[in-house]
Amino acid sequence: MATFSNNARRLRRLPDKVRERFYDWRAPRYSSGIKFHLWPWSFSDVEHLAADSVSSDRTYKSLLEAELRQNLKLSKGLGVALVGSGRSALRLGLIALRRLRPDRSKIVLPTYCCGSVYDAAVSAGLTPIFIDTTESLNSVAADYLKALDGETLGVIVVNLFGRWMAEDDRQKIFETCRHKSMFVLEDNAQCYRPYPEDSATTRARADIEIHSFGFGKLGMATAGGALVFDQAAHEIWEELKSYHPGSGALALRRFRYFEAGFGTAEHLKSDPDTVSNTTEQYGAEEISELDAALALQSLRDSEKILRRSIEIGRRYAEVIKKFPKVYRFHDSERNIFFRFPVILRDVEATNAFWAHMALYKIELEGMYVPLHLRYPRNGQPPCVVSEELYRYVFNVPNRVSLLPSEIDRIVGALADFGKRRSR
Ligand SMILES: Cc1ncc(COP(=O)(O)O)c(C=O)c1O
Repeated sequence: MATFSNNARRLRRLPDKVRERFYDWRAPRYSSGIKFHLWPWSFSDVEHLAADSVSSDRTYKSLLEAELRQNLKLSKGLGVALVGSGRSALRLGLIALRRLRPDRSKIVLPTYCCGSVYDAAVSAGLTPIFIDTTESLNSVAADYLKALDGETLGVIVVNLFGRWMAEDDRQKIFETCRHKSMFVLEDNAQCYRPYPEDSATTRARADIEIHSFGFGKLGMATAGGALVFDQAAHEIWEELKSYHPGSGALALRRFRYFEAGFGTAEHLKSDPDTVSNTTEQYGAEEISELDAALALQSLRDSEKILRRSIEIGRRYAEVIKKFPKVYRFHDSERNIFFRFPVILRDVEATNAFWAHMALYKIELEGMYVPLHLRYPRNGQPPCVVSEELYRYVFNVPNRVSLLPSEIDRIVGALADFGKRRSR
């Protein structure tokens, strides 16, 4: 009979690669897992919020705008538009900028980022020019600037995972683009952070900044996006005239859809009507009242959410740093840890990590395939860093509702993997 001590003795004699297979009996077992997302809302009157009579008042929409203005310290001169999603905010911004410079058709964007950025650029009639990422998983100023040429309309600076670009680099991009009559659009869908008081007036803003209120974002709703703009105001307001008010009925369907997927309401899981697709959110429409109310609720808690997310992220980062042979560099600077990406070193370690975390019942989120591998490259050179790194990246759960015991479990699992693989 195979006993624990027999197995342990055998295990010590085995080479590392084979040892991984024994994880199933050596790792701790947990009856319930740690999910990446959890249903965050406790609203009981969503039907009321989704009703058309509320929509026509636009009550929550104006409250959300006021909250954003206060939270992000927006000066009065900046415009704010609230639309159906982050990607429609991007598309609207790009369409408007294109009207200012119809002779320019290229837009520079990181290849390692969300596919919706690509979709928005293409649907605005632009040709995406991809730039590589770095070990931090964000592209840097030098790469953005190298990609500019006479046909460039502008760049989309994407701040992924809650980590934002160093102020000097940001300024370099702003200044160079201004000098060349190009535009900067900053995508903060993953980087919602209030500006510190003292920098509100000194820190320059991009020509257009976008935010997302999609499910899983910091200002979480079922869908929604914001556009903060300093340029192309006339073009944006003109384009917005063709947008219709956000549909409360669709928002309610999305609400039920997410509730069925991430909530505990079992009865919803069997109702086919609740599992409607959610793609309608990307049309030319304003944010719905229901979504504005949901986003507002989370944003009013943003300080607490950010504090907690930074606290948890730093705990994970401390463990990661202890095992440099196992995990790659992790930078805690300029980081609200909207997501916590763990980057491994090769495919074998990646597979082992996936199995290891599954045994701890910790859900992981896979990350992006670089855009230049998914879409036409327009003849540009390979992006070697993203081609290597993308295969080794997973996000571990970091959400405000994690229990202390769950955080300990994640920290323990990261340390356990680090120790096993460092041997
Ligand atoms: C970096 C980035 N930009 C834009 C978007 C699009 O936002 P939305 O899902 O609200 O359309 C996302 C969505 O995840 C994103 O991560």
